[in-house]
Order: sequence, then structure tokens, then C-alpha cells
Amino acid sequence: MKISIINGPNLNLLGQREPGIYGNQPFEQFFTELKSKFPQVELNYFQSNIEGELIDEIQRIGFSSDGIILNAAAYTHTSVGLGDAIKAIETAVIEVHISNTFSREDFRHTSYITPNAKGLILGFGLDSYRLAIESFLK
Ligand code: DQA
Repeated sequence: MKISIINGPNLNLLGQREPGIYGNQPFEQFFTELKSKFPQVELNYFQSNIEGELIDEIQRIGFSSDGIILNAAAYTHTSVGLGDAIKAIETAVIEVHISNTFSREDFRHTSYITPNAKGLILGFGLDSYRLAIESFLK
């Protein structure tokens, strides 16, 4: 099974960025742990701060991957283009967020991803990604 994690803007700063909200662990370190937890899964990881690069990656893997786990970060709340990209591909997408976006500012309550996603997992810290993998494995 081939699963790809795609992270959007500012998530390259995990571990340094607002640790009270996003925790202390760099994503690369967490990703190594995830890979050892799921040796049977071919896990790939892509991060970009650029909206068009995220869309390019979704299009690139969206017809060959078995599952996509997408944390579009701030673009979640603004990007019609990312929403359309998810609609355009065949691979199912699970939307994840580290924080509970519904307990935060109002602008974080809107998502252009959710209507086109298979499901949404949020608020469990980095464990949201593990839960998404478990869901694909079922
Ligand atoms: C986030 C929540 C977004 O609102 C925010 O812009 C992020 C991270 C999360 O994982 O909690 O950058 O997607």
C-alpha cells in the first residue's frame, strides 16, 4: 500500500513554530517514527509553502497512490484550487490538522478541503497523521 503525506505552508517549521499549539517535534523526526510503525506501508512525504507546488504534487500522485493524507495548513481555509485538485483525482484524501481548528479563530472553521475529502481527523496533535494511516489500512 502506497500512502503519501502532503503538508502545506509553515509545517516545515514544526518543532519551532508555536510549540504550545503544534508541539515540539520536527515533522521529519515524527515521519521516521511513522515509517517504523508501519513497515508494511510505502510512506512518502512532501511539504511545500507554495500553493501551486502542492497542487502539482496532488496531481502527480493522485492516480497512482492508494491514499493521500493532506494537511493543507493555512491554504485549507483559502484555496479553491486545492479543493478542485482533490475533486479531480482518483485517490482518496484524508484531511488532517494537528490542532482543533474549530476551537480556534473563526477563519479556521472554513475548509475548501473537507467537502472533497474522504474524512477529516483533527485535534490529536501529530497523532492525527497516524490515525489517518490506520483508517486507510482498514
Ligand atoms: C493547521 C491548522 C491551520 O489553521 C493552520 O493554518 C496551520 C496548521 C493544523 O495542522 O492544525 O498551519 O493545519
